[in-house]
Amino acid sequence: MSSAVPSRELEGRRILVVGASSGIGRHLGLLAASHGATVAFAARRASLVQEAATAAGHGSIGLVLDVRDPESCEQAVAEVVDAFGGLDDIVYSTAVDKLVRLADADFDAWRDTFETNVFGASLVCRAALAHLKASRGRAVFISASLTGRPLPGMSVYASSKAALEEMVRGWRAEHPELAFATVRVGSALGTGVTDNWDRELMIELSATWSSLGYVHDNGPGAPMTAEQAAEVVLLTLTSPVWLREVTVVSDPGRFDG
Ligand SMILES: NC(=O)c1ccc[n+]([C@@H]2O[C@H](COP(=O)([O-])OP(=O)(O)OC[C@H]3O[C@@H](n4cnc5c(N)ncnc54)[C@H](OP(=O)(O)O)[C@@H]3O)[C@@H](O)[C@H]2O)c1
Repeated sequence: MSSAVPSRELEGRRILVVGASSGIGRHLGLLAASHGATVAFAARRASLVQEAATAAGHGSIGLVLDVRDPESCEQAVAEVVDAFGGLDDIVYSTAVDKLVRLADADFDAWRDTFETNVFGASLVCRAALAHLKASRGRAVFISASLTGRPLPGMSVYASSKAALEEMVRGWRAEHPELAFATVRVGSALGTGVTDNWDRELMIELSATWSSLGYVHDNGPGAPMTAEQAAEVVLLTLTSPVWLREVTVVSDPGRFDG
């Protein structure tokens, strides 16, 4: 796998990737391992995280984790530390993205989104805190470039990403000895994030997104691949500590007016 990531910095790092059964998290874990890191691939689907760990090699492991369950977060971090003898970095790639208009978003939609995208991120970070301190480690959280300008039908998701970003700033303020970063990713193809979308609603909303300048098939607004998004996340993980908030732009409409 070719990349601009300097392998020296990843050699021997012990990284927990949460949300690593598919998409950006999976690619990130494989890329990190190809540069010498040992990776714990965590998510709910056991067979997929196990398959990713086997493909990654370098002593990597697969872990079953449901971030909506606080005990599961504690348990997963304990298992990583037990297996690797410590933990250097965490990457939080987990998210659900419900396609739903605000007028149709019920309590369950809000709860599932915030439990998965925000609460779980803080609970994993909390469980890993002592270990990150011991290794002067890093935590990188994946957000979305639509924060600040939510697409119609994606406001529940966008709200959770805005909350995630503020939560990360809070962690940074309370623990200046550690490095926390957020990477806002634009549209990335080849992931599972849209698997549960209502196709009819998506077609309906697509026309609005186009008129707002969010959808581009090619040119500067074209979607990136999951591999490209993973590379930027990994560069953030290996960057100087002052790199705190990064936006990987694939929607130039965000900067209109
Ligand atoms: N793809 C895009 O266009 C795009 C754009 C902007 C931002 N992002 C962000 O990029 C990150 C990765 O998303 P992706 O596009 O790669 O989507 P994805 O393929 O669906 O990955 C999401 C991951 O989260 C895991 N997950 C979901 N619920 C979980 C739970 N309760 N406990 C543990 N793990 C859970 C999923 O695994 P299991 O189902 O096996 O648990 C999966 O591994 C997300 O933060 C997403 O918001 C993506």
